[in-house]
Amino acid sequence: MMTAPEGLERVLFTEEQVAARIREVAGEISEKYRGRDLKLIAVLKGAVFFLTELARAIEIPVKIDFLAISSFGGAPGMVRIAKDLDEPIEGEDVLLIEDIVDTGFTTRFLLQTLAGRAPRSIGICTLLDRSIRRIVQVPVDFRCFEIPDRFVVGCGLDYKQLYRNLGYIAVMNPGK
Ligand code: IMP
Ligand code: MG
Repeated sequence: MMTAPEGLERVLFTEEQVAARIREVAGEISEKYRGRDLKLIAVLKGAVFFLTELARAIEIPVKIDFLAISSFGGAPGMVRIAKDLDEPIEGEDVLLIEDIVDTGFTTRFLLQTLAGRAPRSIGICTLLDRSIRRIVQVPVDFRCFEIPDRFVVGCGLDYKQLYRNLGYIAVMNPGK
């Protein structure tokens, strides 16, 4: 197992808890989309860890695609597409896979961008939801965990690009 990061305060969800919860949510997704053409779209890089674990636990065939965003302007929600999807999504059932929905700005931008491409449907599935910090409302269809108002790392979430490869979710206090 990876060495615990400096500044790690406490483990919020263990590797076993994360894996078990992802399997549950994968079951819900399999039920909802059975018989449909489901495409999972993940945002690089944070959501990739969640996407692969979720996709393996989903019991129906899925396609996957990726996009990357980068922020500009410094204000929240000022993001643009840095790497676009490889394929169109017109007519498809799309599930946007997020690592965390925090203020909601990023998710809303992605949702609007994807909705403009005429998918058959579009849903949101997030590993973590910090709804207490929400500024703009976004419809979260599937969430693994609700988390408190603390900075977290692990399972794809980073601090200065590190700790994405932690198997668990931990509260981190970088100042310590
Ligand atoms: P939002 O636009 O405020 O919802 O921000 C979402 C993005 O901020 C996520 O995709 C993460 O990249 C980043 N983020 C928000 N909270 C955390 C955290 O606690 N740890 C690591 N990254 C975070
Ligand atoms: Mg980040």
